[in-house]
Amino acid sequence: MKIFVDTAKLSEIREAISWGIVDGITTNPSLIREAMEEERKRGNNTDLSSYLSEICRIAGRERPVSLEVISQDAERMVEEALFLYRKFNPIANNVVIKIPINTYTEEKKIDHEGLVAINQLEKRGIPTNVTLIMKPEQALLAAKAGATYVSPFVGRIDDHIRKKLGIKFNKGDYFDFELIQEIFKLRLEKHLEMATEERISDLYDEERTKELRCAGNDDGIVSGVECVKKIVNIFKKYNLRTKVIAASIRNSRQMRELAETGCDICTAPFSVIREMLRHPKTEEGVKKFHLDAIQAGYDALFK
Ligand code: G3P
Repeated sequence: MKIFVDTAKLSEIREAISWGIVDGITTNPSLIREAMEEERKRGNNTDLSSYLSEICRIAGRERPVSLEVISQDAERMVEEALFLYRKFNPIANNVVIKIPINTYTEEKKIDHEGLVAINQLEKRGIPTNVTLIMKPEQALLAAKAGATYVSPFVGRIDDHIRKKLGIKFNKGDYFDFELIQEIFKLRLEKHLEMATEERISDLYDEERTKELRCAGNDDGIVSGVECVKKIVNIFKKYNLRTKVIAASIRNSRQMRELAETGCDICTAPFSVIREMLRHPKTEEGVKKFHLDAIQAGYDALFK
């Protein structure tokens, strides 16, 4: 599995690369805004063009850098993609264009512009990373349209389910979806047990049954990790070449579960990559080995 770092902060990109574990960079307009505001506070008033050039340069030739378009209609998205690609790809031949799967909004009720843009860019040989994927069906359509990568938003899918359930959480909290499934399974079993005398069709249509079957998931998807697992399986079944980048990752345990799905890439904030390294027993062990080392002996050995 490849690891991308999901940040636009130059210091984080440099540091993660120096650790030898980063295979690519993903950015989005929110991350770029945050990073550039931080730079400005430090007195660095660089413009967007120089800033993006620097990201591409630091990433270097082997690491793809996702840069996102900002428009919502296909024609403009393709224009922006061509601009970004022509301007920044010559730096290190590593630019990938991020396109939202669906740009439907209350004001503009058109849902297919992302697909059209992906397809037009594919025909021009420009790699795309299709973003804001929240269900496998969207990933399948993106792959059919010619996406190079799809990015399911693991954390935001969890947020959506937790919100439906009224669970309070902080952004980095692990979502114990298996426990939630157990709870709803038990509740459904109990309900069905109590209703055995009813006809199946009545039971199936009955409000409570429907409520229990639909709670704790998003149209059958029980978590962000499960969404990734399903996308990986579908792509494997049909030999689709599109690669899966699990995105919107919030904690180290999610990274482990995502690695188990067989997804091609995980893109994580630098803080999550750092969290992957840490364990209290490792810290304790390091301290103990250090104390136990016979100083004089090692001093003589390493001299
Ligand atoms: O790669 C997408 C990511 O930046 C979104 O993350 O944590 O804002 O859902 P998050």
